[in-house]
Amino acid sequence: MNKVLNDWVNEISELTCPDRVVWCDGSQQEYQGLIDQLVASGDFTVLNEETYPGCYLYRSDPQDVARVEHLTFICSEDENNAGPTNNWMSPEDAEKKVRPLYEGAMKGRTMYVIPYIMGPAGSPISQVGVEITDSPYVVINMRTMTRMGQIAIEQLGDDGQFVKGLHSLGDLSPDRRFILHFPERREIWSVGSGYGGNALLGKKCFALRIASTMARDEGWLAEHMLILGLESPEGDITYMAAAFPSACGKTNLAMLVPPECQDGWKIWTVGDDIAWMKFGEDGRLYAINPEYGFFGVAPGTSSKTNPNAMISASANTIFTNVALTDDGQPWWEGMDGDPPAHATDWRGNDWTPASEDKAAHPNSRFTAPASQCPCISEDWESPRGVPISAFIFGGRRAKTAPLVFEAFDWEHGVYVGSAVASETTAAATGAVGVVRRDPMAMIPFCGYNMADYFAHWLSLGAKSDKLPAIFHVNWFRQDDGGRFIWPGFGENLRVLRWIRERCLGAADAVKTAVGWVPAEGTIDIDGLDDVDEETMADLLHIDRESWQAEVEDQKAFYEKFGDRLPEKIWEQHRALAERLSL
Ligand code: OXD
Ligand code: MN
Repeated sequence: MNKVLNDWVNEISELTCPDRVVWCDGSQQEYQGLIDQLVASGDFTVLNEETYPGCYLYRSDPQDVARVEHLTFICSEDENNAGPTNNWMSPEDAEKKVRPLYEGAMKGRTMYVIPYIMGPAGSPISQVGVEITDSPYVVINMRTMTRMGQIAIEQLGDDGQFVKGLHSLGDLSPDRRFILHFPERREIWSVGSGYGGNALLGKKCFALRIASTMARDEGWLAEHMLILGLESPEGDITYMAAAFPSACGKTNLAMLVPPECQDGWKIWTVGDDIAWMKFGEDGRLYAINPEYGFFGVAPGTSSKTNPNAMISASANTIFTNVALTDDGQPWWEGMDGDPPAHATDWRGNDWTPASEDKAAHPNSRFTAPASQCPCISEDWESPRGVPISAFIFGGRRAKTAPLVFEAFDWEHGVYVGSAVASETTAAATGAVGVVRRDPMAMIPFCGYNMADYFAHWLSLGAKSDKLPAIFHVNWFRQDDGGRFIWPGFGENLRVLRWIRERCLGAADAVKTAVGWVPAEGTIDIDGLDDVDEETMADLLHIDRESWQAEVEDQKAFYEKFGDRLPEKIWEQHRALAERLSL
């Protein structure tokens, strides 16, 4: 047995004083036992066994429903290593302020030890983590989201390394809630929350915040990206990885269903949220999805927007904070069909369509096994990963960004990624239409100074001449009346086809100040009712004035990083300003 692991489990058990310690083996029996326990205690509701076999509803504490960025800290030794976009807490303060919250915290509870693998077993890209938790809900979700239990113990071996994650529900008070990351020690402490991103430590905490620092140190990439394969009618597959800020449709793109008129084209899902990538011997970047399931947002998911997600979440799924119909089915705003005449809302109260409050919490989720996705890629568990031909960045922009453009080269592409921004929507609190900078969609997830993160991306440019081409897309362009011009969803396939052709050196493009945009007629718009060549010209138009404003806005963001921002980012920024002034 692994001594470091045993010593740590003993130490935490002494600190937290649980009634008993259970090492999770990941078996179906163990999973079902925990579910039965939560059903017996009333924490889980069994859903309709005919329509949702093996599915359960869980209602979280109403004050514990989302990630808490203001309570999330990077505890690096040096504050400058956290950078201006992260909260920082010194490791000494963490000891003083947060360690006491664990003292005796598991009295009367069971402490579960969850060994897990992020990534396919045996993959040179995968990593082992161990989470200690006092929440059976966390164990159940970790079993769907990671390869958990005995399989991980075997991969770890007697002297293998692992990332430590210590989680306790504490008293669930937001005043005593902290999500801490110690990048130098590869360790995570989470207390006071039972919610997904705060409590399922393999996901955002390990696979992004800690892994991004490992990737920097070891020359690879841990990114907030979906991974998909685009198969042509001839049967060749082009793999792409795409990063979008939240509410931009990552899960929908990962599981895209091609429109009927796009005969023979297929999309295969490898992952919907996170990509870990290492160089293969051929110099290409190979990507794995470190996760084993989907932790998807329910509202807005329907047979129209994402039929594959609906099927993925129709069995063996844990629903959190959705509404419950009178016949025991989950329901949320934006689901198919008419709203039920009566339901129980996410808090457990009566709900009717006349109710003012939403039936499902806007951040309600489904935890579903990825293997249930009808379009899961044959290679999604390939230990080697899939070779990535294109990186796609994107955001929600009413104007400015065209439907798609390609960066001139790697350095320009890194700059394009560093400048990703998205406009706030009415769905979030605060002003609508405000541009928020979210480089590579990593603002909440980069475990170190983002200026160093840009430098890391730039440094890969010298490592290979077979790096993915970099693109930027915007599905959300609007006309002056605020109407979306591009139909989006399945029709986004047409843009992915252009990207594939660029990767193959086949499609023509026109050079503009911001990058290469599709030449007229190179995006197939056959069969689209509301899009003609004139609309395409609008969608691809580069408006000089709004881009000049964009360049100014970027400047204010980059200045936050002071001297630490790589000069190459400034060079690219100046070069764009100059091209716009010509
Ligand atoms: C997620 C997120 O839950 O990005 O994936 O917030
Ligand atoms: Mn995400």
